[in-house]
Amino acid sequence: MNPIKSLIKDMTKKHGKTRESLLPIMQAVVEKEKYLSEYSMIEIARQVDIPAAEVYGTATFYSFIETKPTGRYIIRICKTITCAMKGKNQVLFAIQNMLKIKLGETTPDNRFTLLETNCLGWCHKAPAMMINDEVFTELTPEKVRDILTSYMKMSQINVN
Ligand code: FES
Repeated sequence: MNPIKSLIKDMTKKHGKTRESLLPIMQAVVEKEKYLSEYSMIEIARQVDIPAAEVYGTATFYSFIETKPTGRYIIRICKTITCAMKGKNQVLFAIQNMLKIKLGETTPDNRFTLLETNCLGWCHKAPAMMINDEVFTELTPEKVRDILTSYMKMSQINVN
């Protein structure tokens, strides 16, 4: 079986055939392929048993269709109103300062890509961001620096 088809099958089994399962299934595919192909979206629609248009809509909403190469860790910081009001800009500034990249850029070692995204559904614990498929909430500049430090250490361990 095609490896992506098989991954979608496993993720559907794990997360169920609901609208809520779309995000983790998509994330698993993006983690593997670095982007969500048309083939994957159609396969997700088929296996979760929802209209392909809904999969397209969700993918577009979460900005998961990447057209550029990305780093190993994709940071997606929520740009929507609640996070914006709860200090997202200070968190973003801390990330940019630490990684020395701007929004839309990837670090020269290809470890981190920094992107914005729409609401992640964690507004009650804003500001929020994701790194690959992991969600981080109630962010502060200090907290985000600690998170990035642990990712840097982890990626060094994985490289060595
Ligand atoms: Fe940021 Fe909803 S506004 S998670």
